[in-house]
Amino acid sequence: MGAQFSQFFPPRPTFTISDVPSQQGKVIIVTGAASGIGQELVRVLYQKGATIYLAGRSEIHAQEAIQSIQATTITTTAGHLHYLSLHLDDLTTIKSTPPLGSVSAQGIELQIATNCLGPFLLTQLLLPFLSAAVSVRSPAPRVIWTSSQVAELSAPPEGILLSELRDPPRDAVRNYVTSKLGNWFLSVEFARRYGGTGLASVAQNPGAANTNLLRNARWMKLLSWPLLHSPAVAANTVLYAAFSEELNQAVHNGEYVIPWGRIHPGVAPGLAKHLAQEDEGGTGRAREFWEWCMERTRDYL
Ligand SMILES: NC(=O)c1ccc[n+]([C@@H]2O[C@H](COP(=O)([O-])OP(=O)(O)OC[C@H]3O[C@@H](n4cnc5c(N)ncnc54)[C@H](OP(=O)(O)O)[C@@H]3O)[C@@H](O)[C@H]2O)c1
Repeated sequence: MGAQFSQFFPPRPTFTISDVPSQQGKVIIVTGAASGIGQELVRVLYQKGATIYLAGRSEIHAQEAIQSIQATTITTTAGHLHYLSLHLDDLTTIKSTPPLGSVSAQGIELQIATNCLGPFLLTQLLLPFLSAAVSVRSPAPRVIWTSSQVAELSAPPEGILLSELRDPPRDAVRNYVTSKLGNWFLSVEFARRYGGTGLASVAQNPGAANTNLLRNARWMKLLSWPLLHSPAVAANTVLYAAFSEELNQAVHNGEYVIPWGRIHPGVAPGLAKHLAQEDEGGTGRAREFWEWCMERTRDYL
């Protein structure tokens, strides 16, 4: 319970922009970069000299973000900002349509598709580049998966059920929670599958931030208002997950980071059992979810 309380009211960040090393010569893809936490992350990486691809579905939003960052950021080591067209809810665009109501272009529940299947496929397609970077980059290349506190607070006790993926409830909140638990599952499975090759995977709850996320849930936004922080503060969580050397590839692969940049002190046993494989005494739900994502994206690889 203490771990949950401290995610609502986190201590001051210990890893901030001044701790991020120079990113000159580095190429970074940020999904969700046109607004909110992603945009604040891009702002920091731009100051550090990175070449950043702002991946998103709207070129207009991305170009607005680029202009805003360039106009308001004072730096002598400016990086380069580019738009990368990426509709996470349409698997065909990831290899090379706007959302159709509450399902993706492939007819899958929109939040699972956008938050899990799209990032899963993108990561699979980037795998050869990530693997090639292992031998030339220290610390190890990291994939950062954005989960949420709701994955721990509100996930159903049974975790993610395949039956629910096949036939999702008409409950947007439940589907969001499932997608955020899915991000955590994918991170743990990525670490399990590719940790031996030198790659690292970290899931993180960025923390409650006042962004466009609740654009369609005004009452929820009003109710949660006292708990919301600025997106720039929440971006510190992502910076820690991506760059902190406290996270050692061999020891912390598959770790979960909480606001504003701390290793989760203890995942609730009810959830931990779903992250573990059957031969480790777990339920194998994370493995099942990974395999479901693989099955649903196989045709686009
Ligand atoms: N804010 C919080 O309190 C909070 C807490 C925990 C976790 N998170 C997680 O943090 C992440 C960032 O959220 P945020 O709060 O920064 O929200 P946000 O301001 O709404 O940003 C979401 C971004 O995702 C993009 N996006 C949405 N659908 C897309 C699609 N189909 N294809 C490509 N890009 C798409 C949006 O692009 P457009 O500009 O085109 O809409 C936007 O840039 C999310 O994964 C969220 O679940 C947020």
